[in-house]
Amino acid sequence: MADWPNLHVSQHPAVRHKLGILRDVTTEPKKFREVVRELSWLLGYEALADARTRPLTVRTPIESMDGEELADRIGLIPILRAGLGMVDAMLELMPTAQVWHLGLFRDERTLRPVEYYNRLPDSATVDLCLILDPMLATGGSATAAIEVLKRWGAVTPVRIKLVNLIAAPEGVDAVTAAHPDVEIYCAALDRQLNDRGYIMPGLGDAGDRQFGTGHTG
Ligand code: PRP
Ligand code: URA
Repeated sequence: MADWPNLHVSQHPAVRHKLGILRDVTTEPKKFREVVRELSWLLGYEALADARTRPLTVRTPIESMDGEELADRIGLIPILRAGLGMVDAMLELMPTAQVWHLGLFRDERTLRPVEYYNRLPDSATVDLCLILDPMLATGGSATAAIEVLKRWGAVTPVRIKLVNLIAAPEGVDAVTAAHPDVEIYCAALDRQLNDRGYIMPGLGDAGDRQFGTGHTG
């Protein structure tokens, strides 16, 4: 196994349990969306473990005390479509985060990402960008999203993290080679890609399974 210092694979039993439900071919879209949301919350919790806080005085019913509040300004970048299902849970964790949608789809023939939508604001007024996408397969979409963010101004001291549910070694390699400064948080690191660029064992097509658009015939 390669050594990726920027890769964090969750070891939490609740994550491993929920991932089994997500992978199951019989899990219907409603349940699938619920579990995407629950896993996103748990992974977001781990990805934010080093977020910065600032001191805040809190008055309890008993006395005043030194408390803390989140200081990092956070931008959430869901990659359309499949990343949409991760947004609500992240906003529960960080209600003040901004959400910037980025539309990328993978050309089925070339497996290269195609950008079709971009709602980034004019300037990068955040400290931490979290890219949300359930699947890191070839890494083409993630690398393209990181490049869009860096061109836009998300460069040091702004940090970029990638939050995925399932990653393939090929995708981790590609992101790490191009952007070693980007930390990757995922629920599982799977075996490899098949010849159509799908993760094995994976969960199939994350967008289709959330939105019920899979082929039935
Ligand atoms: C999926 C997934 C990622 C991408 C991963 O999206 O949500 O964005 O593929 O593959 P890669 O690492 O090889 O780029 P897809 O292109 O199927 O679009 P969708 O979310 O609209 O279904
Ligand atoms: N995109 C998906 O939705 N699933 C994969 O396995 C690979 C790319």
